[in-house]
Amino acid sequence: MKINHDFDNLVENYLFAEVASRTTRYVEANPDKKVIKMGIGDVTLPLAPVVVEAMKKGADELANKETFKGYPSYEGYAFLREAISGYYAKNGVEVAADEIFVSDGAKSDCGNIGDIFSKDNVVLVTDPVYPVYVDSNIMAGRKIVYAPSTAENGFCAMPDENVHADIIYLCSPNNPTGAVYSAEQLKIWIDYALKNDAIILFDSAYEAFISDDSPRSIFAVEGARQCAIEFCSLSKTAGFTGTRCGYTVIPKELERDGHNIHKLWYRRQSTKFNGVSYPVQCAAAAVFSETGLNQIKENINYYRKNAKVITDTMDELGIYYTGGKNSPYIWIKCPNDLGSWEFFDLLLEKSNVVGTPGEGFGDCGKGYLRFTAFASYEDTVEAMQRIKDMLK
Ligand code: MLT
Repeated sequence: MKINHDFDNLVENYLFAEVASRTTRYVEANPDKKVIKMGIGDVTLPLAPVVVEAMKKGADELANKETFKGYPSYEGYAFLREAISGYYAKNGVEVAADEIFVSDGAKSDCGNIGDIFSKDNVVLVTDPVYPVYVDSNIMAGRKIVYAPSTAENGFCAMPDENVHADIIYLCSPNNPTGAVYSAEQLKIWIDYALKNDAIILFDSAYEAFISDDSPRSIFAVEGARQCAIEFCSLSKTAGFTGTRCGYTVIPKELERDGHNIHKLWYRRQSTKFNGVSYPVQCAAAAVFSETGLNQIKENINYYRKNAKVITDTMDELGIYYTGGKNSPYIWIKCPNDLGSWEFFDLLLEKSNVVGTPGEGFGDCGKGYLRFTAFASYEDTVEAMQRIKDMLK
């Protein structure tokens, strides 16, 4: 018996597991200290009232013989897929309900999508990068090439015509840098993908944080239907990190290597996935109702206010950063030329604040650190005051 030896090529721990274990060690050794966590992007505000109501109602239906439901459909209930399609339409994007696959989140789909593609494909990721794209492709034994995102290109890596790729992961607003691609930049990626006969895997998990006219979906840009798949999630949009619900959009006409991609994904999902529970799909549909959208907006505005506290502090300290405006992430240059993990340790020990070391997101993240705006307002203000006290 042999294990999958591609796992030997992974770093030992998943980034957020490593941050959590270092934090736990510190907390156990210093039980009197109040540690403020701004590392993993986990939400803290409760679900919106209309969402909870819908979830309870869904659970009640399962308690009655007449309304009980067993297995959901593999691709999600029609009422939720129609609600998601309506949400796209509100943002000016045409996505049909039957192009949407409901899932337990964007992380799973971004990792699982590789099942339908050959091991021989070359994968392109921007660097720094959400570790799931890299780790899941290392597990599959694929070759990965990196497009550097740096301060020089505003952390919006662009394609190099001399590099060939078959699968391209893009995330906008970006995790971890908070940078956002313009429609013109996305068009350049789309043209590059079409020229290379590649597929773009577009992660739009943070689209709800966009506050200007940047595209919230790659399907807002011409040509995307011929080369893109989009992953989105209610985790950050509506506080579903624990509830779990996301969706993946695959245009019906998307074809590669003589195969229809939508059909392949359906085949994969129906084999390995049994859908999202009925009460959660009811809750998810409520997010897209008029009341739901208003209620989640209040939560997003709360996190935006936190992001402003962080960016104001960085401005005051003269520290370079990206993000915060269209994103719950603020990507900062570590002060005094410290390395990412060095600054992480210093922050934890001297300020009792947790960030995520930029280096954990890739080589181009060296010397950077990421804060999230998902803590409480009070904790965010306190964390920033502690950092000011430490650095002044
Ligand atoms: C993050 O902190 O980058 C996110 O919480 C990760 C995720 O969404 O899986």
